Amino acid sequence: LIVKVNEPKADIQPTMWGIFFEDINLGADGGIYAELVKNRSFEFIKPMMGWTIQQSKKADPQIAAMNPPVLVINKKDANTANPRYIRVTVNDAAKGDIGLTNEGFRGMGIKKDLRYDFSVMYHQDAPGIKMHIELVDSNNNVLGGTTVTPYEAGIVWHKIAASFTANATVMKAKMNIWFEGNGVIDLDMISLFPSDTWKNRPGGMRADMIQKLADLHPGFIRFPGGCIVEGYDLEHRYQWKKTLGPIEERQLIINRWNTEFANRPAPDYFQTFGLGFFEYFQLAEDIGAEPLPILNCGMACQFNSAEVTTIDELDPYVQDALDLVEFANGDVSTKWGKVRADMGHPAPFNLKMMGIGNENWGPQYVERLKIFTKAIKAKYPNFKLINSSGFAPDGSLFNYLNDTLRAMHADFIDEHYYRSPEWFFSNVKRYDTFPRNETKIFAGEYASHVNGTNAEQKNCWLSALSEAAFMTGLERNADVVSMASYAPLFAHIDGWQWTPDLIWVNNLQSYGTPDYYVQQMYSLNKGTKVIPVTMDNNAVTGQDSLFATAAIDATTNEVIIKLVNASNKSQKNTISLQGIKKLAAEGKSVVLKSNDLYSVNSFSEPTKISPHESAITIKGKSIALDAAPYSFNIIRVKML
Ligand code: AHR
Repeated sequence: LIVKVNEPKADIQPTMWGIFFEDINLGADGGIYAELVKNRSFEFIKPMMGWTIQQSKKADPQIAAMNPPVLVINKKDANTANPRYIRVTVNDAAKGDIGLTNEGFRGMGIKKDLRYDFSVMYHQDAPGIKMHIELVDSNNNVLGGTTVTPYEAGIVWHKIAASFTANATVMKAKMNIWFEGNGVIDLDMISLFPSDTWKNRPGGMRADMIQKLADLHPGFIRFPGGCIVEGYDLEHRYQWKKTLGPIEERQLIINRWNTEFANRPAPDYFQTFGLGFFEYFQLAEDIGAEPLPILNCGMACQFNSAEVTTIDELDPYVQDALDLVEFANGDVSTKWGKVRADMGHPAPFNLKMMGIGNENWGPQYVERLKIFTKAIKAKYPNFKLINSSGFAPDGSLFNYLNDTLRAMHADFIDEHYYRSPEWFFSNVKRYDTFPRNETKIFAGEYASHVNGTNAEQKNCWLSALSEAAFMTGLERNADVVSMASYAPLFAHIDGWQWTPDLIWVNNLQSYGTPDYYVQQMYSLNKGTKVIPVTMDNNAVTGQDSLFATAAIDATTNEVIIKLVNASNKSQKNTISLQGIKKLAAEGKSVVLKSNDLYSVNSFSEPTKISPHESAITIKGKSIALDAAPYSFNIIRVKML
């Protein structure tokens, strides 16, 4: 192999390797949003979903039926965002007589010695009720608890909070609330958070999951999806303005990945928006990624309802896009900049780009896109827009749409491909022939899907290896491809709708798949300029089952070579570097490999397939590389 260091081909954008986040597979509620109480404000379609009313045997069932101790009240005219709450009535109750149990999302993951923060909103005519909060395991062993005595009276809602420490680690605990005393009390927003959230923010995100994202050092984070941007129908589209402000005022909607809408029904899947656009922007800032919001373009998911808004009713959608730029970047003298500042972030988030539509296509899309583009570019000429290239029902790409978008001088075209490993290996040259002009590619969702396996096994080494090979083609074409992200990002082992996924979680643990480590290796070894690597004067795109790309990192003065050996035999290669004076005598090698293409990582073996780093010795201007069977290899060496 020959690497021509002095023939840089293209700049590699700092945004090149990013992440795609969607609330699918319990990604947000029940996932990175660390709230442990399911249906905390009784707004799910079935108001008591997730809750069980507990009554001691001594209660007469007939009297109890006439005077239910728990009633759901709906005040939709007074509060459209959060209309429901519960009214609890107790008469001379002792602890254990009347209570409520919350089951959590798929149980509650509880950690020994960790502090848990309980809170509830209430109003009552007069004090008189004490609430005993306790966490229990499946055998009703108490894992910790506290008591609160709401003391305010009157029609105004108050919040009361208390914390306690858990005495054991349990994967699937639940929370009881026992009522003691006399009286009537109204309750809403019943909440329990662990204290070990990301950056210890109260009401924040699950730290182990966010750490996995931070460890990827992503160039951007795309949010909030995915199909949830479009919604099953327009009423259920994602509307960012409804995700701001106090959490009790954020209006919940059914998740598009709920029952009927998904292959694996999740009747309890709702978007509470405890995690909203402010939190997404903050997350992007925390992990050093460019924020990349995707907005609805006036079209619902074309695979579901195919509902579109008429052109004369498109204005509010366009206004949402304009206002989002102001929310992210405007100073406090602007309406939306002030909203951001009031939420605790006076400095701008420095938003540079957004997507118009997720997977939308056809003349309806183009017509709407033109209206968005004109309005946004008129106000923000340098702002970049991501255009959708759709997604054909058979999973293929709408190449014709790309021509239309290019003719419209699109900044970015967002391509999605969920295809077989064979497709990934054989499409490594996909972008070699794309026009070199102002329109860049955002490979916004992709993953290699292995047939005949299920759930976690779909993230086997074969899928990751084929992605590693394909990604050599993305990097080689960095003059065309500016951004790429694997999808989906997270899956909960007891609540997924879609596989494969980059990171698997249960209530207490998370692990990166082999695909995760491929993404990480690319991201940590990005480089700043692509340089040619050739075999017999040709790019290395599958000859002898080898795939390669090379880059220099101008900031560290290193050359970075990536090579995939997709064959079942080891392959010895000499890599000669041209156009340099000297290489350092020692370099670094990072290898990801497995002899078994169907091998996977798991909760019990989370790093079975993970990168191994070692020092390598270099003589002169050549590097000897013995690439193991089925391996992804990176070499970094300083140029002197
Ligand atoms: O990543 C899962 C889904 O795949 C996304 O929601 C959608 O954009 C695509 O069809």
